[in-house]
Amino acid sequence: MNVLKVGLHNRLLKEIGDLADRAGLRVYVVGGYVRDELLGKAVKDIDIVVVGNGVEFAKTVARAWGKANLVVYEKFGTAMLLLDDHKIEFVGARAESYSRKSRKPAVKEASLEEDLSRRDFTINSIAASLRGKDFGNIVDPFDGRKDLRKGVIRTPLEPEKTFDDDPLRIIRAMRFASQLSFDVEPSVLKAARKMAPRLEIVSQERISDEFLKIMGSTKPSVGLQLMFDAGVMKIVFPDVFALAGVEQRKEYHHKDVFLHTMKVVDNVAEKSESLWLRFAALLHDIAKPKTKAFKEDVGWTFHGHEEAGARMVKPIFRRMKFPMEHVPFVEKLVRLHLRPMALVDDLVTDSAVRRLMFEAGDEIDDLMILCRADITSKNPKMVEQVRRNYENVARKMKEVEEKDHLRHWQPPVKGEEIMKVCGIEPGRAVGRLKQRITDAVLDGVIPNDHDAALKYLLEIKDEILSTMSEIREKHAE
Ligand code: CTP
Repeated sequence: MNVLKVGLHNRLLKEIGDLADRAGLRVYVVGGYVRDELLGKAVKDIDIVVVGNGVEFAKTVARAWGKANLVVYEKFGTAMLLLDDHKIEFVGARAESYSRKSRKPAVKEASLEEDLSRRDFTINSIAASLRGKDFGNIVDPFDGRKDLRKGVIRTPLEPEKTFDDDPLRIIRAMRFASQLSFDVEPSVLKAARKMAPRLEIVSQERISDEFLKIMGSTKPSVGLQLMFDAGVMKIVFPDVFALAGVEQRKEYHHKDVFLHTMKVVDNVAEKSESLWLRFAALLHDIAKPKTKAFKEDVGWTFHGHEEAGARMVKPIFRRMKFPMEHVPFVEKLVRLHLRPMALVDDLVTDSAVRRLMFEAGDEIDDLMILCRADITSKNPKMVEQVRRNYENVARKMKEVEEKDHLRHWQPPVKGEEIMKVCGIEPGRAVGRLKQRITDAVLDGVIPNDHDAALKYLLEIKDEILSTMSEIREKHAE
């Protein structure tokens, strides 16, 4: 195909082409837009390259469209226009490092071919003309379309040169391989392995951005495994790297914790688009290396790895600059990931089921997805057995839920009422009394209703308040 069919954005791009004709400029759409159109994927962001001054042309377009929201990055020679939910970026063709965010922005003017040669991969180095007389004509000096057909990530120049311009491209190669299910050409991988230490100079935000895109891809293990093999994981995510080589009993899982984790992440990705559930999968065994111990009769054990792992989530998110608002969710899932397994026993009480449902709250369905994904045994009989066990757990939960409606449950007596009834001020005693009521409901000692809880509060309050004041007095002595 020598002409790009631009489908949805035809009108917009034609208008840009008309304005370019009037200004006597050669203007092209390039990069991700062309790549995704050729792959038949939905595209939103539009990258425009101008042979000449990109910022000036962007101003011409903004004026013609009556738009006042043009953002100009003088230093980088780029400009961005937001139009509905499209982001249109303009840049002048340049001869040096392409990346706008890399440490060495360069704005030396150049030909289109030179510009394309300084981009990251051949599949991103395809341009399509927007001029009236050859609208849609494709310029593809590095055979990017062939690589798109073959499913290969290749650099337009020598890989080391391309990576030297911007080392983040090492991870971008793995990200595109993961998103598109492409292979990375061996020479590119070789250069990635050699140059991985250069990632030290790349900002954490840019690295994390690419990492999140790998986690969001259909089969995240493709990118994660490439990162591991090329020595990138060791540098950018040492905690995940440390899972490799940690042996475990293999009845339920893979022997190696890293390989097991890869499978769990992929299993979750098959069932859910949620990025943070995928992160919970990535981190569910993160504390296994530090909790590992050998017991004579049992083999390798990892006591407390779920709690220790939950505590590692926050520092990891902080260091990796992942959005902190997702920490509580990931922590909760890591902390609880073994609990449903404990409910498998036929003799398990309603109270144990209630407790887990209360603790998991709205996250119970995600927790069950994670637990099911956690079974990576190669023994089909074992897999079948555990699946059946989880069906049982899910059935028990459904029964308890139908009886007790615990999903959005709050203890039936609130803190304010406790203070009023007991004549006490806010403080630890209120929390203690509330906890006792919660326990009583979850353990089935009292029914889940307000009157029963109030009656129970009146029964226990004196004993609890007096023990607490005794403790206080002892401390005061
Ligand atoms: N680019 C590059 N080197 C980088 C970053 C970007 O050469 N380190 C070039 C590529 O030609 C790329 C284009 O800039 O296609 C736009 O970059 P970006 O928006 O980051 O990526 P897209 O290819 O558009 O892909 P996506 O939208 O999936 O991130």
